[in-house]
Amino acid sequence: MKSFGGLEALRGVGFAAEAGELLAVIGPNGAGKTTLLSILAGILDADGGEVEVGARAVGWVPQQAALYRRLTVEENLMLFARLEKHEDPAASVAEMLELTGLGERRGEIVARLSGGNQQRINIAIGLLARPGVLLLDEPSVGLDPRQRARLWEFVSGLAGGGTTVIFSTHDIQEAERYGDRMLVLADGEALFDGSAEELREAVRSEAPEAADRDFETAFVAYLHHRGH
Ligand SMILES: Nc1ncnc2c1ncn2[C@@H]1O[C@H](COP(=O)(O)OP(=O)(O)O)[C@@H](O)[C@H]1O
Ligand SMILES: [Mg+2]
Repeated sequence: MKSFGGLEALRGVGFAAEAGELLAVIGPNGAGKTTLLSILAGILDADGGEVEVGARAVGWVPQQAALYRRLTVEENLMLFARLEKHEDPAASVAEMLELTGLGERRGEIVARLSGGNQQRINIAIGLLARPGVLLLDEPSVGLDPRQRARLWEFVSGLAGGGTTVIFSTHDIQEAERYGDRMLVLADGEALFDGSAEELREAVRSEAPEAADRDFETAFVAYLHHRGH
């Protein structure tokens, strides 16, 4: 549960995610996605409720990358590795450059990189501590289709290696395509938790009049039926 002044940004939202699972948190703007992920990341305190994570770290990839645009890729990673007090920052950075395929770009100034590569640095920073759970807040916003495909290929690979990935999106198609499971949020409330197949079923039964429209339109009708 989380309130900002009189506004209840989250209430009664509960879920569990397994190792290697890709969980999509889907909902319109203002639904509470960033608030939920920030609480899971430990950068925002909830007013009530519990968060339980495994022994491994939680990695946080904010929507707005906090990168130093005039520094190089490697310098940025180094800075965060030092801030996080890694025992051997250079080794952590080298490992991350390798994992994210940014090695060739290590010496480039961040400002000159494409949005897709800047997002990879953002993710690399979230992965520095080799977290067991990676939280991505609307990771594909601003990327072109090819960059998106590369992003999801990489993220799916992480999940395949056992990392639990929780990502937010307002794009139902993206949630369905890449999420193993979807958690639908609207106005701070969890409306649905289940597979894409089950969500389609729920949308069909709640909004039968929109059942033969595209999924996005039907989903909007579903939210409307549920009072949002
Ligand atoms: N720091 C804050 N102070 C006041 N209201 C906030 C703050 N952060 C978020 N909110 C409000 O909480 C609600 C949920 O916001 P947010 O979690 O950012 O939604 P989403 O990420 O799904 O777009 C919104 O109504 C938003 O205006
Ligand atoms: Mg948000």
